[in-house]
Amino acid sequence: MPLADFPRYPLLFGPSPIHPLDRLTTHLGGARIWAKREDCNSGLAYGGNKTRKLEYIVPDVLASGADTLVSIGGYQSNHTRQVAAVAAKLGLGARLVQEKWVDWPDAVNDKVGNILLSRIMGADVRLDPAGFDIGIRESWEEAMDEVRAAGGTPYGIPAGASEHPLGGLGFAGWAEEVAQQEEQLGVFFDTIVVCTVTGSTHAGMIAGFAGQDRPRRVLGIDASATLDKTRAQVERIARHTAELIGLGRELREDEITVLEGWAGDRYGIPVRSTLDAIRLSGSLEGMIIDPVYEGKSMAGLIDLVRDGEIGRDSNVLYAHLGGQPALNAYAGAFA
Ligand SMILES: Cc1ncc(COP(=O)(O)O)c(C=O)c1O
Repeated sequence: MPLADFPRYPLLFGPSPIHPLDRLTTHLGGARIWAKREDCNSGLAYGGNKTRKLEYIVPDVLASGADTLVSIGGYQSNHTRQVAAVAAKLGLGARLVQEKWVDWPDAVNDKVGNILLSRIMGADVRLDPAGFDIGIRESWEEAMDEVRAAGGTPYGIPAGASEHPLGGLGFAGWAEEVAQQEEQLGVFFDTIVVCTVTGSTHAGMIAGFAGQDRPRRVLGIDASATLDKTRAQVERIARHTAELIGLGRELREDEITVLEGWAGDRYGIPVRSTLDAIRLSGSLEGMIIDPVYEGKSMAGLIDLVRDGEIGRDSNVLYAHLGGQPALNAYAGAFA
């Protein structure tokens, strides 16, 4: 059925802003670069891409009669922080499994930034030594059993809200929002650059844009460093979401592009190009990006524009998906 017919619980301020990045554009000397700002899309604990996804999941939560949201991510997960905020807003409990996705030496890694915010918002935060994996985890299922055993009614939201059947709808809606904003701005974004890890942000965009008349490139920049898993997950969720919203055709292979080269060797560890991108974006535009996700997708954008892979005549839209709270846990990288 059309996206507009799916129930949606408003959590965002409205359409997220789009603005040009003029000094970055001049610096790189190629395509015109713009940003769409999911990092300031909501008043709920700084918002971000998960808050947009959760708009389509909350109606199902409310219909289920659950009293506790159960979710999972790394210590510095932006996703679990946004789940904690939405739980607080709805008057529900939040039980969060925080795994050691990143072996990062900063002593405050499990104390500041996202995890601090989740604790402030009253979430039941439990640390777990398991490493990075975007799939469904036993610890998440055990957490749901524990909530049940304590007499509660859990509602499970997988990592990044990606493996949830409705996880792709939020960013299918983003694609519609972009088309409306293009009309207002009098511009067409022929290239979208987006960070991808658990996949449903990129996948939702692919499904949403596929239904529009004018073709464009949606370039996912891998930040998982487990490219095959992420690509498979993007493809699966994109196809599922396209079917949900009644695209009426199969997605083509060339509509699903996940690029590697900027993740480094491991998820969550910034490399030289990540830190350079963070400094460049901050010093030229006052736009703050993080070392786990957006610093990596911005590093990709910088290279693609510099190398002419994204042509000079392009208008490229950088999807800023949020994530700045994690910067607090990475102070050592900028010392
Ligand atoms: C700031 C930020 N950017 C990008 C992503 C990647 O989005 P997705 O997991 O939907 O691929 C995430 C979450 O994983 C995120 O928190």
